[in-house]
Amino acid sequence: MAPDDGAPTTPGTGPLAQRRRGTAPHEGTPPPLDLDALEADALAVLPPDVGDYYAGGAGAEITLGEATAAWRSWRLRPRVLRDTTAVDLGTSLLGSDVATPIGVAPWAYQGMAHPGGERATARGAAAAGALMTVSTSAGTSLEDVAAAEPAAPRWFQLYRLHSPAHTDDLARRAGQAGYRALVLTVDLPVLGRRLRDLAHDFALPADFPLPNHPAGGAAPVSAFPPWTFDDIARFGEVSGLPVVVKGVLRGDDAARCVHAGAAAIWVSTHGGRQADPVVASAQALPEVVDAVGEEVEVYADGGIRSGADVLAALALGASAVFVGRPTVWGLATGGADGVSRVLTGLSTDLAHTMALCGLGEVRSVSRDTVTRPT
Ligand code: FNR
Ligand code: LAC
Repeated sequence: MAPDDGAPTTPGTGPLAQRRRGTAPHEGTPPPLDLDALEADALAVLPPDVGDYYAGGAGAEITLGEATAAWRSWRLRPRVLRDTTAVDLGTSLLGSDVATPIGVAPWAYQGMAHPGGERATARGAAAAGALMTVSTSAGTSLEDVAAAEPAAPRWFQLYRLHSPAHTDDLARRAGQAGYRALVLTVDLPVLGRRLRDLAHDFALPADFPLPNHPAGGAAPVSAFPPWTFDDIARFGEVSGLPVVVKGVLRGDDAARCVHAGAAAIWVSTHGGRQADPVVASAQALPEVVDAVGEEVEVYADGGIRSGADVLAALALGASAVFVGRPTVWGLATGGADGVSRVLTGLSTDLAHTMALCGLGEVRSVSRDTVTRPT
C-alpha cells in the first residue's frame, strides 16, 4: 500500500522499514550452506586450470550436470506427530562409529587446493565427526595423513598402479597404518576424457609430490595389468581390511562383487569424470540396494549438495553418502576449517530436514520416506 502522503515508495523506506524488531520465527535455524557461493569463491582463488580440473567432468559433462537433479527428482513423505527434539546423525560404517553419515570422498592432489592438503582435510573431517577416504593420488603419504588425526576413522582408496607389487604394498601399508577399510576404485580402467583438462593442457606442477605412487609414476593408473573380481578377496587378504568396491552402477556387478568378497558397495559415477553419459547414482542406487543391500552396506556419491539430497540417498538404501567437490571448495577457501564447515553445514541441514520429516535417527530412514512425483 502507498504511504498516506502519496509519495513514491522506495524499497526499505516504507512503513515496515521502521518496525521494531521482535522475535524471528527462524531463530535457531542456521542459514543453509551456500555451496554455489563457496564454489565461486574457490574458483576465484584457484588457478583456472586447477579450478577446471576440480570442477570438470568427462565427455559432454552430461553425467556431471544431471547428478544433483537426479537426487532432487525424489519427494519427501514426512511423518507427523513424531518426537524429533533430538535428531541423532550417528551411525556405524563397517563397524566404525561416525557422528554423521556424510563422509569425504577420495579426491586427488589436495595440495593444489590448499597448502595444508590432505592433512587439513583430515583435521576438518575429524572436527565434523566425518569419515575421510584418502586417495592413492594424495600429495601426502598415507602414513602422514593417518598421523594428522590418529584417532579418527579413515579409509584408504586404492588405484591400480603401474606396478602390481607396489599396489600390493600400498594395500598392506594401509592396513598397518590403521585405515579401517580399503576402497578399490574400479571405474577407471582408463582415464575419462576431460575436455577442460585437454583445453588447458593441464599438468601437475613438476615438483608436486605423489608419495603413494611408485617413484616417477605420476599417472594415476596404467591400463595394465587389469583387475578382476578375484582381486577383491586378494586385496582383503593383503591388507587385512574389509574391501569396498567404488564405482559400481549395476545390480548384477554389485552382486558379483559381494559374491567375490566385497564388504560394501559404493555407487558412484566418479563425479561424472569417467564414462559419460552414465546413469546417475540416484538412479543406480535402488537397483544396487535391491541386488545386495540386505547382505552388505551400500554407499553413494555424486552431486550430493543438500540435506534433502542426503536424505533421499538414505531413503533409497544408502548407509552413508560421500561428497567430493564441496570439500574441495571448503579446503580451497578455508583449509581444515573450510572442510569442517562444509561437512557440518551439510550435516546440520540433514538433521533439520529429518526433523521436518519426523525422523530422529539415520537408521529409521526407510524407503517409504521418498516417492517420485507422478
Ligand atoms: C575425484 N574422485 C576420485 N575418486 C577416487 O576414487 N580416487 C581419486 O583419486 C579421485 N580423485 C578425484 C579428484 C577430483 C578433483 C574429483 C572432483 C573427484 C571421485 C570422488 O571420489 C567422488 O566419486 C566424486 O567427487 C563424487 O562427486 P561430487 O561429490 O564431487 O559431485
Ligand atoms: C580424477 C582421478 C585422479 O578423478 O581420480 O581426477
